[in-house]
Amino acid sequence: MSAARRIQVHVLRHNPRDPASEPRLQSYEVEEAAGMTLFLALTEIRERRDPSLAFDFVCRAGICGSCAMLVNGRPRLACNTLTKDLPADITLLPLPGFELIADLSVDTGRWMRALSERLQAWLHARETEVDAARIEEPMDPDLADRIYELDRCIECGCCVAACGTAQMRADFVGAVGLNKIARFSLDPRDARGDGDFYELVGDDDGVFGCMTLLACHDVCPKQLPLQNQIAFLRRRMARAGG
Ligand code: SF4
Ligand code: F3S
Ligand code: FES
Repeated sequence: MSAARRIQVHVLRHNPRDPASEPRLQSYEVEEAAGMTLFLALTEIRERRDPSLAFDFVCRAGICGSCAMLVNGRPRLACNTLTKDLPADITLLPLPGFELIADLSVDTGRWMRALSERLQAWLHARETEVDAARIEEPMDPDLADRIYELDRCIECGCCVAACGTAQMRADFVGAVGLNKIARFSLDPRDARGDGDFYELVGDDDGVFGCMTLLACHDVCPKQLPLQNQIAFLRRRMARAGG
């Protein structure tokens, strides 16, 4: 049996709240175990070698979106990325585009909350649907599937970190924002029309600022059909803008 591979994990260390802290890469050697994820490698480093290492996780199952980071330059979830699928040298950086808390920990939550408030990303129910009988009204199963597909976004921020437009323009809503609007614009229970959605994303901070770079589509860990949704929304908003 061959010996376990030893991997070198290079991690950005920096605490922006400490005036003495200078950003630097710190390297750790880890013995790879079967089925080891990046999350497990980081946990081993923190438990055995460096309790000060900061990184986020909650679910460890690709559901909560909190463990996203740049892995050899590409945004990924640490909890579902296997070390065996990576070279022996692994460089981990915090997601760009979000406030750095420390090391690999960034505040995506505040960014996502502000985005949801700005885009009013909740169902604006039609008044008649307060009627219990109508709430039970069945939705066309194919349409329900399309909406469910877009609802699988875990707000991890990978699409924002990968997008050149989002990195250049702080107010750009990113693929995550465009996906939210596409989702509500499909929903027949939402009282808003194309004119209302145009008000929210019919400009250069919205769908017309997207340069179709498509890195968002390539990196989304939930494989959301972002390319199709952005094209769909652009056509609808172009019509709405007349
Ligand atoms: Fe993450 Fe995909 Fe949602 Fe973007 S669209 S926040 S990459 S799950
Ligand atoms: Fe950015 Fe995706 Fe558009 S990467 S430019 S949001 S297609
Ligand atoms: Fe929840 Fe990775 S820890 S997505």
